[in-house]
Amino acid sequence: MKRLLSILITVLMVATVFVGCGKDKAASSDKIKVGLSLPTQREERWVRDKAKMEAVAEEMGIELIVKVADANMQEQTTQVEALLNQGIDVLILAPHDASAAASLVEMAKKDDVPVISYDRLITGTDKLDYYLSFDNVKVGEIQGKFISEMVSEGNYIIMSGAPTDNNAKLFKEGAMKYIQPLIDSGKINVIAEQAVENWVPENALKIVEAALAANDNKVDGILAPNDGTAGAAIQALAAQGLAGQVPITGQDAEKSAAKRIMEGTQSMTVFKDTRDLGKAAIEIAVKIAKGEKVETNSAVDNGVVEVPTVSLDAKVVTKDNIKEVLIDSGYMSEDDLK
Ligand code: BGC
Repeated sequence: MKRLLSILITVLMVATVFVGCGKDKAASSDKIKVGLSLPTQREERWVRDKAKMEAVAEEMGIELIVKVADANMQEQTTQVEALLNQGIDVLILAPHDASAAASLVEMAKKDDVPVISYDRLITGTDKLDYYLSFDNVKVGEIQGKFISEMVSEGNYIIMSGAPTDNNAKLFKEGAMKYIQPLIDSGKINVIAEQAVENWVPENALKIVEAALAANDNKVDGILAPNDGTAGAAIQALAAQGLAGQVPITGQDAEKSAAKRIMEGTQSMTVFKDTRDLGKAAIEIAVKIAKGEKVETNSAVDNGVVEVPTVSLDAKVVTKDNIKEVLIDSGYMSEDDLK
């Protein structure tokens, strides 16, 4: 009986080897293969998203192929084509350009590859499977509430993010819920209102420099959509000896922003835990690949359809709670604040 069993096992093992060889793919590519297309690595948060997804993919034993388009839609298109040619099972796509990325979703669907829109929504397509992000209107509300409570009258510079990024629209919409009534009542006077093309800090620097110059440095509050643009605005303030004197928002909980909050030049940031977002993305991708049910908690209109959405919470960070929110959660170390 024992002998029979060992013969059977040997036969099975040999058969397995043959089956493996019979396929044109190496044995390792039998793993679930996920493609990840990121828009940039310029902001620290995207570096963290990538690192987290790579770590979780490794833990879960799946193959993750990562491409980074340097804020360039042509580049992202070429990279997504390459991912599809590599036979991915699922595509996680954080678009550089919300509407242009619709054609990438259509392309993936032709290959029967499901698509998860990551952090930034892809608009104008009914083929998108899921959207995974933070509550972005809420992020804007956190910024708008904070700055309007801190500075309820005076001259404001209002910046928003890249017009190609749907999040930028949502952040501003949230912030203006608090700021607009003060504009309408004449308490707040907007001296500059501009979008920061491509989220490039240098563009924010120019906006703030120009507004300061045109208004004799009389600025009382700045709505900066993220930490990168806040850093540039603070640089412009510093050149006029005003750093630390003008309340300013941010977002992303970058290490440099955490330092500025500690030294008092930046008033706040918004913490979006990229570890949770990255982990959820890989887990959802694996579920889709296995044909399992994906739990969602909301739906977001992308202009064509309501996209099933997983939305995570964001938190305000100020000097008062920075240790609790960023250090105790292990997102940063004490040294990062110095
Ligand atoms: C993200 C922000 C980021 C910005 C610039 C947005 O879509 O949600 O976290 O700061 O892009 O990369």
